Amino acid sequence: MKTLLQLNTSIYSSAGQSSRLTDEFVSSWRGRNPQWRVITRDLATDPVPHLTAERFAAFLSKPDERTSVQQTVVEYSDSLIDELRRADVIVLGLPMYNFGVPSALKAYFDHIARAGVTFQYTEKGPVGLLKGKKVYILAARGGQYAGTAFDTETSYVRQFLALLGMTDVEFVYAEGLAISEANKQTSIAGAKSAIHTLTREAWPAAA
Ligand SMILES: Cc1cc2nc3c(=O)[nH]c(=O)nc-3n(C[C@H](O)[C@H](O)[C@H](O)COP(=O)(O)O)c2cc1C
Repeated sequence: MKTLLQLNTSIYSSAGQSSRLTDEFVSSWRGRNPQWRVITRDLATDPVPHLTAERFAAFLSKPDERTSVQQTVVEYSDSLIDELRRADVIVLGLPMYNFGVPSALKAYFDHIARAGVTFQYTEKGPVGLLKGKKVYILAARGGQYAGTAFDTETSYVRQFLALLGMTDVEFVYAEGLAISEANKQTSIAGAKSAIHTLTREAWPAAA
């Protein structure tokens, strides 16, 4: 069964603007193809721990030499990776906090970047092992940064996903949400319209 992974990363859980946009995406996608399974992961209600030296040592440990604590850490990381591996499409809600990604998302990234599992070092540099996925990123921001040098968030997320082999990535921005109520409403309406266009392009037969 084809699977869509909805990944919410707002500190406000489902009430965050980015999470509302992922909900909009999922409902539009489901309307066009009800056969898809949708898995939702919310990093506010189900946070991934910060990476520590102990947790990273567990990732590097040999399977037959792991302590039971290390085994638990590796199994947790493996479960996040399996969920991602099974997803054909990923829709990521991406707030901007203090010019960057939510720390919850960074912790998640730190648990899915595993040499030999999700990417491989080669003589030509790292090669991603999670290929063939489509990623939609729905970004919510108080200010307006897309396309400017201040938007390091977009390039960081693109670069990270590419490391794991995910290079087919589309961004939709809802920006200027803190500028004024009118700006916020216009921006969210524009993002929703872009979302419907993207799902229609993915499922033209259902248009
Ligand atoms: C702690 C915090 C830090 C923020 N930092 C920024 C920022 O650096 N730049 C910006 O444009 N907006 C910033 N904002 C505004 C958020 O990007 C905006 O509220 C957006 O809706 C967050 O997404 P969410 O509603 O899905 O959580 C910040 C908001 C919070 C709560």
